[in-house]
Amino acid sequence: MDPQQLATASRLANIRPFHVMELAKQAAELERAGRSIIHMGIGEPDFTAAEPVVRAAAEAMRRGVTQYTGALGIEPLREAIAGYYRTAYGIDVPARRVIVTAGASGALLLACAVLVEIGAEVLMPDPSYPCNRHFVAAFDGHAKMIPSGPQQRFQLSAAQVREHWGDATRGVLLASPSNPTGTSILPEELRQILAEVRQRDGFAIVDEIYQGLSYDGAPVSALSLDDNVVTVNSFSKYFNMTGWRLGWLVVPDALVPAFEKVAQNLFICASAVAQHAALACFTPEALSIYDERKAQFRERRDRIVPALESVGLQVPVRPDGAFYVYADCRQVNHPAAGDADRLTQAILQEAGVVLVPGMDFGPHTASSHIRISYATSMAHIEDAIGRLAKLFGR
Ligand SMILES: Cc1ncc(COP(=O)(O)O)c(C=O)c1O
Repeated sequence: MDPQQLATASRLANIRPFHVMELAKQAAELERAGRSIIHMGIGEPDFTAAEPVVRAAAEAMRRGVTQYTGALGIEPLREAIAGYYRTAYGIDVPARRVIVTAGASGALLLACAVLVEIGAEVLMPDPSYPCNRHFVAAFDGHAKMIPSGPQQRFQLSAAQVREHWGDATRGVLLASPSNPTGTSILPEELRQILAEVRQRDGFAIVDEIYQGLSYDGAPVSALSLDDNVVTVNSFSKYFNMTGWRLGWLVVPDALVPAFEKVAQNLFICASAVAQHAALACFTPEALSIYDERKAQFRERRDRIVPALESVGLQVPVRPDGAFYVYADCRQVNHPAAGDADRLTQAILQEAGVVLVPGMDFGPHTASSHIRISYATSMAHIEDAIGRLAKLFGR
């Protein structure tokens, strides 16, 4: 039988392609045709895992600790993550509340499986990380995206939670710092959002995957404000381990058994090798490597923000974390100004730079904004700025 003829589930109608991946495919074709392409599309560090982590992975394989682990993760790693909250954030998170997952993606899927009732509405800002609305849709919930502009740092506000919470709303899904904007929710605003959610007996899932890459002061974890939140984190970004597929959740004590039984069924466990290797992330040797790399990301941020403005891409809110700039493209000197989809195509075809149009992140800023990822070397950043300046006649 022709697999084309198989009917797909109706929920697929609510799941859109991830445009950044489509652009990456086009860029790969141009490269095969001999063009020089600068990749500032995908949000993936140009660094790979630190040497102590690689050594620990090899050692784990040699020791043969490569079988299934418990669904919540190996105890030493859960303890190490709890210890990291103590040293990096000054908060006490018991290891029993830490759940090791297959990346933040696995964590978000688990959280949605456990918390999103069929038909439930989940509030999130527009723009948001594209997969978030699809994680909710995958469990037959509905993402209600609330237009969130620069005046609120592209983040949901407590006033919006009050205003938009309806009969079907069950919770909020936030990310701080955010993808695509690199902006964090200010701690006082976050405290108020969590209070609004709690008053309504709702859930708050807070994705803190970029907190390790916070450049303007110490980040504030939602865990320091409210014990009842579900936070998401990962080894992908600060620890430069995207392909290792390892992340974690911190969940309220009472929810651990619910998460455990869903994790057992959906994933069995996260990669055993990656878990053993990740123990080395928390050694002083590895942490100093990661901190040095974080300093490089900060330097890139400091270079790229004014450089983008100098070529006519306005940056309405200075990003304080992650490795993204969300730029307003309405004032650039190009026939496609203010049409982010056409403009990113033109930038790819004419200048050989991959950027992502706002449409990936929600309808509100779909045509007016583009995302630039600076998870690439300073040399590539300089080259890209030069190409954009030439394209825009600057
Ligand atoms: C905000 C956000 N959450 C989650 C993820 C998924 O990360 P992971 O590689 O840990 O699954 C990403 C990846 O880009 C992201 O930007």
